[in-house]
Amino acid sequence: MSHRILTWLQVTADQFHLGNYFGSVKPFLDLCTKFPDAEKFLFVANMHSLTTVQDGSLRQNAINSLKLFLACGADPKQVFIYNQADVPGHAQLMWVLSCLTHMWFMERMHAYKDKVANSKANEASVGLFTYPILMAADIILYDATLVPTGKDQKQHVEFARDIAQKFNANYGETFVLPDSYIQEDVAVVPGIDGRKMSKSYRNFIGMLDDEKTTLKKVKQIATDATPIEEPKDPDTCNVFNIMKLFLSQEEETERRKRYTAGWLSYKDAKDALYAKIMEFVNPIQERYNNISDEEIHSMLSQNASRANELAIEKINEVYKKVGLTL
Ligand code: ADP
Ligand code: TRP
Repeated sequence: MSHRILTWLQVTADQFHLGNYFGSVKPFLDLCTKFPDAEKFLFVANMHSLTTVQDGSLRQNAINSLKLFLACGADPKQVFIYNQADVPGHAQLMWVLSCLTHMWFMERMHAYKDKVANSKANEASVGLFTYPILMAADIILYDATLVPTGKDQKQHVEFARDIAQKFNANYGETFVLPDSYIQEDVAVVPGIDGRKMSKSYRNFIGMLDDEKTTLKKVKQIATDATPIEEPKDPDTCNVFNIMKLFLSQEEETERRKRYTAGWLSYKDAKDALYAKIMEFVNPIQERYNNISDEEIHSMLSQNASRANELAIEKINEVYKKVGLTL
């Protein structure tokens, strides 16, 4: 069976950080290489991002994030890229699936459960509560077979599979059942304070940060007080844990030896990391600056037609089966 791989781009910020790149963008690009014959779909998940971004920046976030995604090496000839909100079928299917989903089941979904556990249930919007249903619609609308996700989203892909199965059982074969694809070797990238790199902790190094900002952030990376002459443990060093993302296996082994041999100063380690980061982001930033908003708009408007063709076909089938078409 040939696969249809489906992934998404959150547009909750106007750029993404090294954690997003190594934890999400790069694994997706690697997967594209691994499955050269599969169809690859990527959509801008702006209807999801709207659950948190409500200050009017959503539109420009989406344009910038798409530019950055292309600048990172995604090939729009290989990856079919579209805007979720350009396709009314997502919301239409979501309503049908909402009617087939029990409240108690949604209450078990972790995004909402976490809010309740942190006594923040009163901050949860209806959108946050129901987003796993929108996510299921995003997936099964296009008969996606494989959904690469971190472990945090596995529960939601399983829900998509269950609801597709339920629909098929009630109304006859309609949806393909999706599987999640967990890439086990994906690293959790630490931020400059040692916690997981994240927008919400403000501990990130952005892919579009300029030299001055990056240097400042690298200097702020938390290190311990081991004296310069002492051997150091690379695995507990935040500088090393970011550095190794850029290194080949051999380079990593060499670097480890430098740590355990002693006489490595954290200043030198930080200088080397800064140089590596700039070497990595410079060409990406250059490509980013050469992509116009117009290119993004024209790609999205072309792809909206095809996405809608696929979606309308599926929605027609669903509406007929459930009895909404008269
Ligand atoms: P943030 O925590 O900055 O808000 P998102 O939740 O928008 O990031 O994450 C978007 C994608 O990037 C997700 O697939 C997530 O798993 C991945 N990601 C985010 N931060 C990291 C990190 N520090 N290490 C690895 N992957 C990450
Ligand atoms: N819910 C996912 C997240 O918060 C994003 C998402 C929306 C998604 N729709 C999807 C992921 C469909 C995979 C497939 O990160």
